[in-house]
Amino acid sequence: MKNFLDIDDIPAIDSWIGEAIEMKKQQHENSNVGKFKTIGLLFFNASLRTRLSTQKAAQQLGMEVMIMNVTKESWKLEYEDGSIMNVDTVEHVKEAAKVISQYCDIIGIRAFPKLIDKQEDESEIIIRSFAKYATVPVLNMESATAHPLQAITDAMTITELKIKNKPKVVLQWAPHPKALPQAVPNSFVKIMKQMNVEFVITHPQGYALNTNVTNGVTIMHDKSEALKGADFVYVKNWSSYQEYGQVLTQDSSWMLTQEDLKITSQAKVMHCLPVRRNVVIADEVLDSPHSVVEKQAYNRTYAAQMIIKKLLDYEK
Ligand code: CP
Repeated sequence: MKNFLDIDDIPAIDSWIGEAIEMKKQQHENSNVGKFKTIGLLFFNASLRTRLSTQKAAQQLGMEVMIMNVTKESWKLEYEDGSIMNVDTVEHVKEAAKVISQYCDIIGIRAFPKLIDKQEDESEIIIRSFAKYATVPVLNMESATAHPLQAITDAMTITELKIKNKPKVVLQWAPHPKALPQAVPNSFVKIMKQMNVEFVITHPQGYALNTNVTNGVTIMHDKSEALKGADFVYVKNWSSYQEYGQVLTQDSSWMLTQEDLKITSQAKVMHCLPVRRNVVIADEVLDSPHSVVEKQAYNRTYAAQMIIKKLLDYEK
């Protein structure tokens, strides 16, 4: 695997999930795999889990880690080919990606969408430009449309905690005051489609995700109907895809409460975090044994460790 940009880059989901779970059991088994290698983590946006878990994953493989908050600490980059750079961009990604490749053996990128122009966001100009011009593998740490490290984590968590062969997993939209990307739900849908689960998405009218992603998945607008018998409820907000980037409703009846859980099969509640308490999920749920959000976040390290090892193996 030259780059890890999306779930589609994984050739065998089940065995890769199994490898990540195995790494969690044998945390220090691969502590020399990345010796004398360096990973550079470039953040165009804020992070808590991705930054710390990816750093820890690389360190557990014996790698050196360099981190840069690009928007605050580096030059403003240009991505357009042939542009006359006489306004505010100082350095072209062509040079930047090649130069960073001389310092790093893997480059991780986090670059969110602007949620203004769908076509621009879907072009994934930042991560795809780095993938094009870097001479080392590029790792997606959440781009405009995908968060594959989170999806691997989520699949690991379901695999570890399921008590039946084919659990019912519900992806439930929830309200949020700000417009959030579709990256997490997109990648979660992609990975669930490849797992042995009964998968349902529930959201209000106007919140359908990209149909190229959700095609073939059951979608319900009645939350209660969707939650019936659920073994896992993955709660997540996203902004509208059709009315691109808009917040169409903040209907609080879509917040997940204990009352909602009564119709589930003692569901485990998931969220990628950060979560706004009592807006997205009620305190009573997050503070109950139903919540597995911290277990989920713990798995971020081992999802990243498995993928970084794959990228290092490619170089051999
Ligand atoms: N879930 C996730 O990616 O968390 P951060 O935004 O804190 O990295």
